[in-house]
Amino acid sequence: MSARPYVIEEMISAKAIAARIEALCRDIQKEFAETNKLVVVGLLRGSFVFIADLVRELDLPIEVDFLEASSYGDGMESTREVRILKDLRGAIEGRDVLVVEDIVDTGHTLNHVTQLLRTRRPAHLRSIALLDKPSRREVDFRADWIGFEIPDEFVVGYGIDFAQRNRNLPFIGKVRFT
Ligand code: IMP
Repeated sequence: MSARPYVIEEMISAKAIAARIEALCRDIQKEFAETNKLVVVGLLRGSFVFIADLVRELDLPIEVDFLEASSYGDGMESTREVRILKDLRGAIEGRDVLVVEDIVDTGHTLNHVTQLLRTRRPAHLRSIALLDKPSRREVDFRADWIGFEIPDEFVVGYGIDFAQRNRNLPFIGKVRFT
């Protein structure tokens, strides 16, 4: 928990997020049009709001599962060493899988998770992240769909936290220390 006081400045409005999700879902539906076995996998905890809005825009038969990987702890820096804290409940062999992440930052988390899930032999594995900070990348990873590219700012809201706070903001905001 940060003791330093900060303010949150809106960066992406709730309306802009909703419009972007609609457009993304039109694309995702085309990609998975033929499937009746899509599993949408949310990475806990940051993606819980995004996945909730995403699946309600998807006009496809889907299942939802969750996986939790460690990353930031309670700070602002990635630990880089990714550990699986909670694994999927279901098997994904032969299934189409869409992994849903809040932010791709250094890239370690999604890179590790997609590599792990590939070893389980899904038919297709795709990934989507609401936000991407390409300037922070440390491993060569690109999600198949990105909501918004953002600069190197620490952001909160729409499921994303700073030391477990601010997940319930309806918009994406940047943290400014005062
Ligand atoms: P990566 O492994 O460095 O790509 O980190 C991805 C994870 O770091 C995300 O799922 C977030 O949980 C966290 N993260 C990265 N950037 C931010 C940020 O600006 N605010 C809050 N969490 C972040």
